[in-house]
Amino acid sequence: MTDEPDRDEVDALFASLDHPMAIVTTVLGAERSGCLVGFHVQCGIEPLRYAIWLSKANHTYRLGALAEVFVVHFPRSEHYGLGALFGATTGDEVDKFAQCSWHPGPHGVPVLDDLDDWFVGRRVALLDPDDDHVCIVLAPLAWARSGKTDWLQLSDVLDLDAGHEPTERPAAS
Ligand SMILES: Cc1cc2nc3c(=O)[nH]c(=O)nc-3n(C[C@H](O)[C@H](O)[C@H](O)COP(=O)(O)O)c2cc1C
Repeated sequence: MTDEPDRDEVDALFASLDHPMAIVTTVLGAERSGCLVGFHVQCGIEPLRYAIWLSKANHTYRLGALAEVFVVHFPRSEHYGLGALFGATTGDEVDKFAQCSWHPGPHGVPVLDDLDDWFVGRRVALLDPDDDHVCIVLAPLAWARSGKTDWLQLSDVLDLDAGHEPTERPAAS
C-alpha cells in the first residue's frame, strides 16, 4: 500500500471482480422507469433482503425515491441489447418500454418479457449516505427462475456509456 492510493488502481480492482448485472424497473402512478444496475446484492437472510443502489442522476431514481415496489431482473449474456437499452439510454429522453416487450407484473411494475429470472421486491428501507447513489432495501415478494446461469456480466457491458453519468447533478423536476 502506498501513501497516495491510485484511484485508477482501485477502479481496476473493483472492475476485475466482475459480477452479474441487473435491470431494475419500477412504476409511480402512470409513469414507468428502469435502468441497468451493477450495484446490487442480497443483504439479508431472515428476513430475506436484497439491496439495489440507484444513481441520483437517473430517471429511475426520481421515480424510485417514491416508489414502493420494484422488479429486479437478471439478464443473461444473450440480453446485451436489453442491457444497452436500459443502461445507455435514459427515460428522460426515450420511452424504453416502447422499445421492448413487457407486461405489468405485481403492483403494475413492468416485467420484461425476454427475461426469465427476476423478483418483485417491496421497499423496506431507503438509505441515503448523501453521495451519488441511494441504497434501496427490498423484501422479495414473488419471483421467477429459469435455472440458467450464463448471466450478463459487468465485463460484458463495460463498453456502454451510461445514459446518465452518476456525477451529473440530478435534473431539475
Ligand atoms: C456498466 C454499468 C453499470 C451501471 N450501474 C448502475 C447502478 O448500479 N445504479 C444505477 O442507478 N445506474 C447504473 N448505471 C447507469 C444507468 O443504467 C444509466 O445511466 C441509465 O441510462 C439510466 O437510465 P434512466 O435515466 O432512464 O434511469 C450503470 C450503467 C452501466 C453502463
